[in-house]
Amino acid sequence: MRALVTGGCGFIGSHVVRGLIADGWEVTNLDRMTYAANPANVAEVADHPRYRFVEGDICDGQLVRELAAGADLVLNFAAETHVDRSLLEPGVFVRTDVEGVVTLLEAVREQPGTALVHMSTDEVFGSIPAPGEAAEDAPFAPSSPYAASKAAAELMVRAYAETYGMAVTVLRCCNVYGPNQHLEKFIPLFTMRALAGEPMPLYGDGLQEREWLFVEDFVDALRLVLRELPAAPGVHAVHIGSGERVANRRVAELICELLERPAELITPVADRPGHDRRYALDSSRLRARGWAPRRRFAEGLAETVAWYREHGEAWAQTANGDFARYFERQYGARLARR
Ligand code: TYD
Repeated sequence: MRALVTGGCGFIGSHVVRGLIADGWEVTNLDRMTYAANPANVAEVADHPRYRFVEGDICDGQLVRELAAGADLVLNFAAETHVDRSLLEPGVFVRTDVEGVVTLLEAVREQPGTALVHMSTDEVFGSIPAPGEAAEDAPFAPSSPYAASKAAAELMVRAYAETYGMAVTVLRCCNVYGPNQHLEKFIPLFTMRALAGEPMPLYGDGLQEREWLFVEDFVDALRLVLRELPAAPGVHAVHIGSGERVANRRVAELICELLERPAELITPVADRPGHDRRYALDSSRLRARGWAPRRRFAEGLAETVAWYREHGEAWAQTANGDFARYFERQYGARLARR
């Protein structure tokens, strides 16, 4: 079986690429190698006979059509994903996350026999007050430009499914964490800051809750989804959540405990504008199909923190982009003002 994976040098995409290769798939990885990509993420499969890397843009219609031709499956993990960056530069989110998806839809529409699986997010629902959970048919209410770009992409998927009778699977996942996640994200950032003994910038009161899923548990959920891909026309939304919702402050404290660093490093700073208080997915449908995460958050976090302790510094060196510059732009004034 042949898969075209987009964004396969990023965090989740690279775990998927490695998982599919291990499962016997032939994989083409299309990645634009933006700041979010790191070639080290796929180094272990780089010379594999069933792996091919193509540097390119999912907005390049001709390239996408060529690569999708003959693929049984197109899996979209190419995206701008960081909420804070979407507040600084929303335009690139519209381009990659919306126009890019339209390009994929156009390519797949021309090729019956190629299935499309698109990665979305629980953020399309906006903040979910406790004790609520968002089911597959919950209304969209995105708060950030990032979330709005993912919701817009889903609406384009819906329009193509309705108009052309396409069957598209949409994965809405809670916050994923694990090795190889970019340092801009909460858990890697706080782990690396704690390791360096530097202030860990906690937004607002730190009582916002996120639902956390270990990346390999995501890959297992994807495996199940791929075994049972529906062929009926329409959008098939799948919720993938761990059910473990933890306040940011608690996550920060756990990281300090794991690294034996003082909790005083946790430094409240100005909140993220429009910051959603809580995300929570109802994943009962996927559970009923036989999936459950294998790691509790405490175990997955310990494994992740250990990975960053051992590999974080060297791995960050091989990443694209200028993280120091971004850090200064995002946190310089916040940390100076505290
Ligand atoms: P993040 O990893 O950016 O994911 P998302 O915003 O998509 O959920 O952030 C996770 C949570 O951690 C979120 O509530 C914002 C918070 N956070 C901080 O408090 N400080 C930070 O420096 C970052 C990056 C995030």
